[in-house]
Amino acid sequence: LPHFVSVEDLTTDQVNALIARAEEFKNGAPAPELSQPVYVTNMFFENSTRTHTSFAMAEKKLGLTEIPFDASHSSIKKGETLYDTCLTLDALGVDLTVIRASENDYYLPLINPGAGHYLGLGIVNGGDGSGQHPSQCMLDIMTIHEHFGHFKGLKVAIVGDITHSRVARSNMEILNKLGAEVYFSGPEYWYDHAFDKYGKFLPIDELVEEVDVMMLLRVQHERHAGDAHEGDFSAADYHKQYGINEERYALLKPDTIIMHPGPINRGVELADSLVEAPKSAFVAQMGNGVFMRMAMLEAVLRGRKLGGLE
Ligand code: CP
Repeated sequence: LPHFVSVEDLTTDQVNALIARAEEFKNGAPAPELSQPVYVTNMFFENSTRTHTSFAMAEKKLGLTEIPFDASHSSIKKGETLYDTCLTLDALGVDLTVIRASENDYYLPLINPGAGHYLGLGIVNGGDGSGQHPSQCMLDIMTIHEHFGHFKGLKVAIVGDITHSRVARSNMEILNKLGAEVYFSGPEYWYDHAFDKYGKFLPIDELVEEVDVMMLLRVQHERHAGDAHEGDFSAADYHKQYGINEERYALLKPDTIIMHPGPINRGVELADSLVEAPKSAFVAQMGNGVFMRMAMLEAVLRGRKLGGLE
């Protein structure tokens, strides 16, 4: 892959190959040997703990050289565009960059700059607004595969602040492609019926005893400016109506897993006492993120023939 910006165009063979490679890395497979140095930056214009740090960890394990980039002190703050920032890094010899930004599709002009532009930097999307979060999606499906060994026929509920969630957008699409049955739940005002083509919207209490995967989404207050429901939001009320509390947890099937991309609003999407419960895959997801990001970066290195890889 020359870039990794979305899961939209991945084939099921590519998805399965990435899962297999991430599982190999998890089982101790060595990183491929690089015959030339590869320079990478991590440009995070939105806050991040998991994605930023696990890309840095994956880069280190792959033997890439990270060139520090501090978004808050960069010339973006003086008005330089993202395109010109990438042009600068390219000129300095950076080979690829991971970017998180709040604008949906920020990556399109970077990967298709058009006539007269020669940006040669590889782009890996660390999350764009409410658009896509390909690395979170890939680590999520790795975690599901690790637990169940397959996707076909698995019932997966995506629950919560769906309209504002890039995790939901990436996951509903790929889970559909892999043959899982997708369901949606949570506040109907944070659901867009455009997603009906991927699955059915149902009340959480109709799903809790049925699903194999309960995928909870963070309530993203930072994306609620102008949202009519933000002013009335009550954490306790949300938890009661849509969250996984001890009562709902007890109704889950024995093999069901609860997932959450993090950061968790404890006591809102998931009860504080359940974050590390036996059915919670939250910690496993974060650990798998490093290995999946290694597999994704390796695919881009090979796609761009960087480090002497083919
Ligand atoms: N899941 C996720 O993207 O977490 P961070 O915002 O901490 O990277």
